[in-house]
Amino acid sequence: MIANVLTIAGSDPSGGAGIQADLKTFSALGTYGTSVITALTAQNTCGVAGVHGVSVAAIRQQLEHLLADVHIDAVKIGMVASRDVAQTIADVLRQRRPRWIVLDPVMVAKSGDVLVDDAGIRAVRDILVPLADVITPNLPEAAVLLDRSRPASLEDMEALLPELVALGAPYVVLKGGHLRGETCPDLLASPQGQRWLAAERIATDNLHGTGCALSSAITACLAKLPPQASSEAPIEAITTAKQWLHEALAASERLNVGQGRGPVHHFHAWW
Ligand SMILES: Nc1ncnc2c1ncn2[C@@H]1O[C@H](COP(=O)(O)OP(=O)(O)OP(=O)(O)O)[C@@H](O)[C@H]1O
Ligand SMILES: [Mg+2]
Repeated sequence: MIANVLTIAGSDPSGGAGIQADLKTFSALGTYGTSVITALTAQNTCGVAGVHGVSVAAIRQQLEHLLADVHIDAVKIGMVASRDVAQTIADVLRQRRPRWIVLDPVMVAKSGDVLVDDAGIRAVRDILVPLADVITPNLPEAAVLLDRSRPASLEDMEALLPELVALGAPYVVLKGGHLRGETCPDLLASPQGQRWLAAERIATDNLHGTGCALSSAITACLAKLPPQASSEAPIEAITTAKQWLHEALAASERLNVGQGRGPVHHFHAWW
């Protein structure tokens, strides 16, 4: 059977991040994608002009009505703009828990625009992180979650990882996209220990939505695991997702979308 996956996130009209990127990623990786929209952003490849939150009641209704009908194998949670939204998502997911919950603690867009208020950030940390199986903070988000200065080196990342794990999710993918240098490794914590997911840094400006694509790729790869998968299987799923994103980034030059930071090529393996 084809796995069903859900993204709970904001909409990006330019199609490179948020719901649109997640649905493309789910489809590219052979899963059936569904979505619950938490906010409408007015956004293009150059920046965010506005963020219009969907009401908590409308988010709850979308979620409850979907989950009452469709069995979801894995869910990705992206943009959560306020405490009430975080609480609502947690309430509903606790009642009908998918096998895998992946949380991308989105706070700031690649353009630098702030997407979540302070109470929302605290709620993500206190309510949603402990509910998640996997969290995927970038370096600035890790700093905010732990109220620390931003990690700037591989050593900083290794030092921060145990504290991120202590927030409550068994798998942490600490993304190295914001490092300077030739490489772009992510640091993975799991119940089997920590390991680096190595990658060369690709010289491109097409970095719009890399984080969304990675977290939704992880969600799709986890959803495809059989129920009796080995304890190494989630690590392999996360590694496969990172490799897929790398290829999507490498193929991004084949697209011609906007004047700013373009999207990655989600369907690089298909066309
Ligand atoms: N230039 C690059 N070359 C190769 N991989 C990259 C590059 N930039 C980012 N990545 C990878 O992309 C993934 C997303 O990382 P990044 O740190 O960009 O996330 P993010 O800041 O959350 O992104 P977004 O702004 O889209 O939310 C990580 O696996 C990271 O290693
Ligand atoms: Mg991100």
